[in-house]
Amino acid sequence: MGQKRIISAWIRGGTCTEPFAPPASDRAWRLVLLGAPGVGKGTQAELLSERLGAVHLSTGDIFRAAGNLPPEQRSAAMEEALGYMRRGELVPDELVIRLVEERKACLRLPCGFLLDGYPRTVPQAEALDNLLSGEGLALDAVLDYELPLEVVVQRLSGRRMCAQCQAAYHVETLPPKREGVCDHCGGRLVQRPDDRPEAIRVRMEVYQRSTAPLIEYYRERGLLVTVPAEGTPEEVFERSLRLLEQNAAGATRRG
Ligand code: AP5
Repeated sequence: MGQKRIISAWIRGGTCTEPFAPPASDRAWRLVLLGAPGVGKGTQAELLSERLGAVHLSTGDIFRAAGNLPPEQRSAAMEEALGYMRRGELVPDELVIRLVEERKACLRLPCGFLLDGYPRTVPQAEALDNLLSGEGLALDAVLDYELPLEVVVQRLSGRRMCAQCQAAYHVETLPPKREGVCDHCGGRLVQRPDDRPEAIRVRMEVYQRSTAPLIEYYRERGLLVTVPAEGTPEEVFERSLRLLEQNAAGATRRG
């Protein structure tokens, strides 16, 4: 099963039943990406996915895809979730945990996965642990991207997304070839509603309160790999790979 089809099943909530997706690297990586909004998780997930063969699964993408549906096709629960998202708040745990549970077949595939934006709270992390152990699986590592707040805000306020294929750009650091037009599909580039300054402020507060405690949660379980997120996307990517390999080598020695 190609990565595009797995991602489409993840977003739609399809079954992902094809038995075999060969890993593109010599092992299947099962990773979580942590870090404040705008730190560059989505950008790194794309680069890591290409290199490691693990499929990039983002809970934010599930909500954005629902937001692109005509209102009459959205469920009441999804409509409510979109309201939280626009304000920069977290969608309630119960709903997100259920959405991921419904898509667990995507986590089982032999190519591995890069979870981006999930878990975001301790109850979500516990739910993920239960879900994976029920499948006989475990996380290999949690990459935690760190960046000073002012750089994060600069990255978010300059971000533009393709309304059609969701590719991310930045007005200064990653501009498209033609202003306002996606290089990949020719779609229109727009600013995400939650990238407005008032929503960014709320997202940062929510991150500190709800998501930052996950750093300790994963440190205690020996899974945390802290990655400084300064530099170009390629520099951050090379650093991520190096730290991940060091961590894997350490785990082999310890185990
Ligand atoms: P989600 O989509 O997960 O958003 P997020 O975590 O806020 O992360 P972002 O996508 O904003 O940032 P990113 O770190 O991926 O940065 P990017 O690579 O784009 O979630 C959205 C919302 O959905 C949440 O707020 C919540 O409401 C809801 N939700 C989702 N999951 C949930 C959950 N589990 N529980 C509850 N609610 C949930 O980079 C940002 C910009 O910087 C881009 O323009 C990029 O080009 C640029 N950039 C990236 N790297 C670099 C670099 N190295 N140098 C210069 N520029 C760079």
